[in-house]
Order: sequence, then C-alpha cells, then structure tokens
Amino acid sequence: MKVVITDYQYENIDSERSIITGAGYELFDYQVKTTPDLIPVVKDADAVITQYSDINAEVIEHMQNCKIIIKYGIGVNNIDCEAASKKGIYVCNVPDYGVDEVSDHACTMLLALGKKLPILAKSFRKGEWGYSSVVPLLRLSECTLGLVGFGRIPKMVARKMSAFGMKVIAYDPYINETAAQELNVTPVTLEQLLKDSDLISVHCPLTKDTYHLIGKEEMTLLKPNAILVNTARGGIIDEAALIEALQNGKISGAGVDVFENEPVTPEHPLLHMDNVIATPHSAWYSETAIHTLQRKVAEEVVNVLNGNPPFNCVNMK
Ligand SMILES: NC(=O)c1ccc[n+]([C@@H]2O[C@H](COP(=O)([O-])OP(=O)(O)OC[C@H]3O[C@@H](n4cnc5c(N)ncnc54)[C@H](O)[C@@H]3O)[C@@H](O)[C@H]2O)c1
Repeated sequence: MKVVITDYQYENIDSERSIITGAGYELFDYQVKTTPDLIPVVKDADAVITQYSDINAEVIEHMQNCKIIIKYGIGVNNIDCEAASKKGIYVCNVPDYGVDEVSDHACTMLLALGKKLPILAKSFRKGEWGYSSVVPLLRLSECTLGLVGFGRIPKMVARKMSAFGMKVIAYDPYINETAAQELNVTPVTLEQLLKDSDLISVHCPLTKDTYHLIGKEEMTLLKPNAILVNTARGGIIDEAALIEALQNGKISGAGVDVFENEPVTPEHPLLHMDNVIATPHSAWYSETAIHTLQRKVAEEVVNVLNGNPPFNCVNMK
C-alpha cells in the first residue's frame, strides 16, 4: 500500500520512512500545496500525511483508495473533514505532541507582555533609565487571565499561570466543569471574559463558528490594559481589528504566533509594533515535539493501514 506525504517542513523524514517502510508499506514524499499539484499525487494513495497543504473537497474527491488523511499537528482546518467523512476517510491528528511547548509559548508571551518587557528593553536600549516607558504596570498576581477554549493546551496554561497567583476564567461552550473546578478555573461567557480579563489567551480551534470570534465589536469590550495572545489559529481574531485596536491604544499589547494568511511578509504591521511579540507559527516547536510528532504520525498511518481503528480521529466515531 502507498503512503504519500504532501508537504512537510522538517529537516528529514527518516523516522516516518523507517516506521512506514518497516511495516511493509511504500512511502512517497512531496512538497505540493495547490489543488492541481495535489490531485495527481494523492489519487492512488492509501494514506495521506499533510502539514499545511489545502486538502479541500476537490482534492478529496479524487482520492480513490485513501483510508486516512493525517495532519502533522493538531488543527485540521486545512482539511475538508466533511468531504472526507462522506468518502469514509478518517481524518486524524496528533493531539498531544506539543501541549507543553504551546502552553509554554503562550505563558511566555503573557508574562513578557504583562510586564511590558519589549517596550522596557527597547527604551533602555535607547538610553532611557527607569520605568517611565511602561507606566502603568499591573501586579501580575492581581490580574485576571481569560482562556478562550478549555482544551488540552489552555488547561496546561491555567496550571502554569496559577503559580503567579492570577485568577483564571475560561470560555468554552463545551467546558468540562469538573476539570475547571479541579484547576480553580471559573467558567464564564465570552462577553464576561472579554470585559473582565487583563490577560487573554486564545486556544479554541478555527471553525466556521470561531472565525472572527474576537472581531471589531468584541475589541470594544476589552480593558485598555488588556493583553491578547493568540497561539491557536489566525482567523479566530480579526487581524485588521486587532491592528486597529493596538494602533489606537484600545488595548495594551498582543502576542501573535498565528496569522490569517501564513506565511506573512516582513512588512506585516504586527511585526513592527513595540507592544507586540510576533512569532512565525512556531509555538509548537522543540526537538522533543518534532520527534514525537513525526513518530506518532507514522505510527497512526501504520495502525490504520493494518486495519485497526485510529488512535485519534477527528471526523468519525
Ligand atoms: N501555534 C502552534 O504552534 C499550535 C500548535 C498546536 C496547536 N495549536 C492550536 O491550539 C489550539 C488548541 O489546541 P488544544 O490542544 O487545546 O485543542 P483541544 O482539541 O484539546 O481543545 C479545543 C477546545 O476548544 C473548545 N471549543 C470548541 N469550539 C469553541 C468555541 N466556539 N469557543 C471556545 N472554545 C471552543 C472545545 O470545546 C475544546 O475544549 C488549536 O486551535 C490548535 O490548532 C497551535
């Protein structure tokens, strides 16, 4: 049986090759991203591994033998899950490879922005001694942290940030109340979260329901000292509204690891603001996370091609 990797950004795919060919399957790797390039390479594949390629309904329609499409990562927003379900194809992900890394990244951004470190470091470099560039600064233990989404990553953020003595609140329409209680997290509505939080960290998936969940109108609810961090997906926050709020001092700062259209060019406004920390969709990265991700993707493919139910399927029970 034939396994196809449509695209990847790793140094090599030795781990996948060893696991997949070791199980008796063939592996072919490409760097194809567009529909016309994708169709010929996936049409006779039994399994498709993808990172950022657009696996849309048209591409899926051409798959003749495919049993599993698996994402190198968590967010499957580049795969048309409905089209895959209609063809009986499992859509899988690796939900647990980078929970530590992404939660660390979000916490690092929240802390650095909460302490206004980018502004302080810049003014000091320019010769300004003292704290006047960052007035007013809140005490972190008196801040409220709002988590949008309460899945694996934000639960870890709650654990880590509560060490700083913050009050933690969360909005998630499907919140697990017991888990929230155990972590001393108070469930709230989105409106209440936006109004009450000093620090906000976004962690829901990008879906039709969450596209521009925080838009122009929602920005008006935020406190002027609010810090907004997004390590989930661009598109959940309306980027134009965020830029406008930052430029006009309606919020204090932002941490952005994900963008509406990736990759962004060096001219992107969020890369040129003193009160913003922008990173290139790299929150998930550590050497351990990469190795875990590559190994688990290959193990899932072999598992399904061997005729077993998937370990982590997002579109079918
Ligand atoms: N930046 C990176 O490098 C990186 C890496 C990995 C994951 N991610 C992103 O992080 C996000 C969170 O990952 P996770 O592992 O915690 O996900 P998860 O699947 O464990 O949890 C997702 C949570 O979102 C909730 N949710 C669904 N719809 C919602 C809505 N309308 N409003 C609020 N919450 C809603 C669900 O109930 C669930 O609790 C995902 O969007 C993923 O794409 C980013």
